[in-house]
Amino acid sequence: ALTTVVILYSSLTAAEAAAAARMVKHMLSSLLLLWSLSHDPRLDLSNNFIRQLHTLVLPYLEQLDLSANQLDLISEGAFENLARLEELNLSSNAMNNNVGSNSKALRSISTLKTLDISMNRLSDDAVELYLRNKPSLDQLKMSGNALTRLSHSLFQESKGLRSITIEDNLVSVIEEGTFEPLSQLEMLNLAKNNLVHICDFKLHQVKYLNLSRNSVEFFVTREDDQMYNLEILDLSFNKLLYFPIVPKMNNLRYLHLQNNMVGTLNSEASMVSETNYLYNRIIKEKTARKNNLHSNWRLMPVIYIDLSYNHFQSFPVETLSLLSSLETLNFSYNCLQNISWNIRNYNHTGDHRRLYFPSLKHLDLQSNRLVHVSPRFLSALTQIETLNLNDNSVQPCGSADGLRSSQSTQRKNPNTSCVAFGKLKTLKHLSLKENNIKMLHPNTFETTSLVSLNLARNAHMVIHVGALEGVQTTLQSLIISEMNMTSSDLALPCMPALTQLKMSYNHIDFIPSSLSCSPLREIDIRNNAFTTLNHSLIKVLSAHLDLLYISGNRFNCCNSKWLTVLNETELPDIGDTECVTRVRNIAMTEYLKNPLLYCSFESLFLVEQPEFHQVIKY
Ligand SMILES: *[C@@H]1O[C@H](CO)[C@@H](O)[C@H](O)[C@H]1NC(C)=O
Ligand SMILES: *[C@@H]1O[C@H](CO)[C@@H](O)[C@H](O)[C@H]1NC(C)=O
Ligand SMILES: *[C@@H]1O[C@H](CO)[C@@H](O)[C@H](O)[C@H]1NC(C)=O
Ligand SMILES: *[C@@H]1O[C@H](CO)[C@@H](O)[C@H](O)[C@H]1NC(C)=O
Ligand SMILES: *[C@@H]1O[C@H](CO)[C@@H](O)[C@H](O)[C@H]1NC(C)=O
Ligand SMILES: *[C@@H]1O[C@H](CO)[C@@H](O)[C@H](O)[C@H]1NC(C)=O
Ligand SMILES: *[C@@H]1O[C@H](CO)[C@@H](O)[C@H](O)[C@H]1NC(C)=O
Ligand SMILES: *[C@@H]1O[C@H](CO)[C@@H](O)[C@H](O)[C@H]1NC(C)=O
Ligand SMILES: *[C@@H]1O[C@H](CO)[C@@H](O)[C@H](O)[C@H]1NC(C)=O
Repeated sequence: ALTTVVILYSSLTAAEAAAAARMVKHMLSSLLLLWSLSHDPRLDLSNNFIRQLHTLVLPYLEQLDLSANQLDLISEGAFENLARLEELNLSSNAMNNNVGSNSKALRSISTLKTLDISMNRLSDDAVELYLRNKPSLDQLKMSGNALTRLSHSLFQESKGLRSITIEDNLVSVIEEGTFEPLSQLEMLNLAKNNLVHICDFKLHQVKYLNLSRNSVEFFVTREDDQMYNLEILDLSFNKLLYFPIVPKMNNLRYLHLQNNMVGTLNSEASMVSETNYLYNRIIKEKTARKNNLHSNWRLMPVIYIDLSYNHFQSFPVETLSLLSSLETLNFSYNCLQNISWNIRNYNHTGDHRRLYFPSLKHLDLQSNRLVHVSPRFLSALTQIETLNLNDNSVQPCGSADGLRSSQSTQRKNPNTSCVAFGKLKTLKHLSLKENNIKMLHPNTFETTSLVSLNLARNAHMVIHVGALEGVQTTLQSLIISEMNMTSSDLALPCMPALTQLKMSYNHIDFIPSSLSCSPLREIDIRNNAFTTLNHSLIKVLSAHLDLLYISGNRFNCCNSKWLTVLNETELPDIGDTECVTRVRNIAMTEYLKNPLLYCSFESLFLVEQPEFHQVIKY
């Protein structure tokens, strides 16, 4: 078989040459000479079986993609005639071989701006050689190699780098001076390595730093008065026990701390003092015992923090309230049982210090074990819009309870303490799914601005008739699925803004007429006890209704006039819907093909509208 290919072309475009190369794909293992004066700036030779590269004469070429070949030998002079090459993709090859010759070839292209040498099993030494003479290199990817130690000589000849990705290597050591001299460096991705400590973060220039999926136990910056450009810091999936000590002056907007062990220490006070102790030990500061964590966090303009999947047993009220720009806080999947107001007072007047979360709009507390939420905490959420309390054990107060409960009565027995949502005037989206709620009292959400409410999976909940009083004009989405409800449990008020209603997995057999008030666009009644739907109600609703989910009910085929008025509504699951005739169950779609066959006596109205089944969209 042919193992060496010489392609000489002057009239073909580079794309045509690539196509020619692909045609001989299974034999093509060595590209001896590729010559063209074509002006096409791109050549894609990826996904071939090229093993060797000898001479490329492509003076106009700017981008060369050789990824996913079996390249292990590039002759020294192979790239000498690629005067304009800016982008080279060598990912997924075997460049760990013949490093001497390959590196000489790479050294000859000093014009490169983008280089991808990911997945080549490269060692530290090989990479260092491949990065020689790269003054214009801007973007470098070397994920999935075997780097272990980043040394200060690594980027010595590629100091213009702006973006470096070293994901998925074995890096455990970064020598001082490795990244500091790269003054253009903005994006540094070191995710999926073996880094354990960041003892002295010094990269003022970096905007994006990804350290996700290492084994980082702490992250410390020595305090100075220089500005750091850091905007995004990802420390997720590590072994952090403490909050990171970030640069004092920074631009940090997004802080990803999910899947760590922060909060393992019981109280916030001990966590803060441990963190500061650690700081002093690492920085070897012997001076005054300052609260470094807090003094630095206070200046952090962060808008988003993800603390999900950590080990918090108490909510760090003081520390998080320092973040005056914080808009989104994800505190899901921790071990909070209480959110109490254990804050230190600076003086001893007995008055509690007032703290606020002045920008917090979105708070996710799902999957904790929350029973008790201090009313003081709720009143500190002055801008809250979205509150997710799924999968906790929260009991909502009625409005009267809320007034009564304020402090003293609640504290005695946390089991009976309730959460007064009525206080949250700005609240728009509330999810209380799966809280084992016993009772939804009258006026529970009275002064909120609720737009969506999820009450699903509270199988023992009794909904008082007046429960939605106060929000019936603002509510647009209501979810009451999986609540073990019968129609007599379902008393819904007139809700003139409601566009979405989900009530699947209950035992409901009729839709309350009060819903004729609502411009519903989506209704989900799957898996209930419906045998038919009120066709005059459906006719009213059909003016707005786009989507109706109906499967899992025992509809009576011969009492399905309601289907005839749904001429513009989509029934996405009609194919999974059955109906019952006197003699048997049949697929609804089967029935609709010939209604008279199944219901000739029972539903004469069908004779009047024999075509109706054709206008139903399914
Ligand atoms: C190199 O090619 C691979 C596909 O083989 C692609 O995933 C990667 O993004 C490319 N690198 C660059 C820098 O475009
Ligand atoms: C950091 O890298 C990980 C691993 O590739 C990725 O999943 C994550 O999205 C990155 N983080 C950010 C903030 O881009
Ligand atoms: C919070 O984190 C959990 C777990 O990763 C995720 O499912 C949820 O969507 C996040 N919430 C927000 C508001 O981003
Ligand atoms: C207690 O501290 C608060 C500030 O936290 C201050 O406003 C108040 O005046 C102080 N009270 C006394 C008696 O010092
Ligand atoms: C919850 O708070 C109550 C008082 O508010 C306290 O008695 C109880 O011990 C707390 N439980 C936990 C687990 O912190
Ligand atoms: C709270 O409820 C739990 C279990 O439901 C029970 O073990 C505990 O004793 C109760 N505490 C109080 C103070 O009633
Ligand atoms: C549903 O309600 C019935 C009584 O109406 C009760 O017997 C049954 O246990 C409830 N099911 C669940 C899952 O709570
Ligand atoms: C059917 O709906 C209409 C319109 O909402 C209502 O007036 C009527 O009472 C309903 N019929 C039944 C049997 O519920
Ligand atoms: C749907 O039904 C309404 C009256 O109920 C009628 O005005 C409209 O033309 C029908 N649309 C189609 C596509 O049949």
